[in-house]
Amino acid sequence: MQNVTIIFKKTMKMSDLIDADYRLLYLLSRLNISLGFGEKSVDTVCKENDFDTNCFLFLANFQSNKSIIDVEATFESLPLRPLLRYLKSSHSYFLEKRLPNIRRKLELVFSDADRGLQQAVLDFFDNYTNEVYEHMQYEDEVVFPYVYSLMEESCKEPYSINIFEERHNDIEGKMNDLKQILMKYVSGSKDQMLMVNILTELYMSEEELEAHTFIEDSLVIPRVKRIEKERTQK
Ligand SMILES: [Fe+2]
Ligand SMILES: [Fe+2]
Repeated sequence: MQNVTIIFKKTMKMSDLIDADYRLLYLLSRLNISLGFGEKSVDTVCKENDFDTNCFLFLANFQSNKSIIDVEATFESLPLRPLLRYLKSSHSYFLEKRLPNIRRKLELVFSDADRGLQQAVLDFFDNYTNEVYEHMQYEDEVVFPYVYSLMEESCKEPYSINIFEERHNDIEGKMNDLKQILMKYVSGSKDQMLMVNILTELYMSEEELEAHTFIEDSLVIPRVKRIEKERTQK
């Protein structure tokens, strides 16, 4: 994927942003921002959707312009709450949209001769979906509420972000395994366009999950550690 070299600004039209990098359509989906924004600016669309514009611009630039923004410094200047909200709505997006969409296509792409392999692939996919569900449910039900309570100074739980850091694993590795199996061992004879579409979706999902894990591991965890330190020094 080519690097986009315009740093996105709040006065730009949302449609120009998408024109510059169509993969940002998926960022809109992850944030539940609907299409149909006409000629409105990024700022207006964000305000109408009650999402912090600077956080949106960070996520858009992080996705499209990583090489030309200072990711850590930009993240430091932003409020944490909208970004936690983004992570949580991304979980719903993966579990309710992305993964079911891939499964639906996997049901259609195998020829009769490959039924045995199809069952193995669907079983692998369902196990993977369960793992992703448990991973994300833990973050939604344990980690994020802990961070909110820490920020609100109402934290009573004997929890620490170190616990999360230690148990937090990457969830994109198995996506890669599935991609390799489909690409190398399933014939495209039944519907090669559909198989290419599935592989493209797996590549995109892997990139999305990598970026998601990076935000959790390299941006959110260090920020929460600092808040914990401030609290203990009070
Ligand atoms: Fe997550
Ligand atoms: Fe995670």
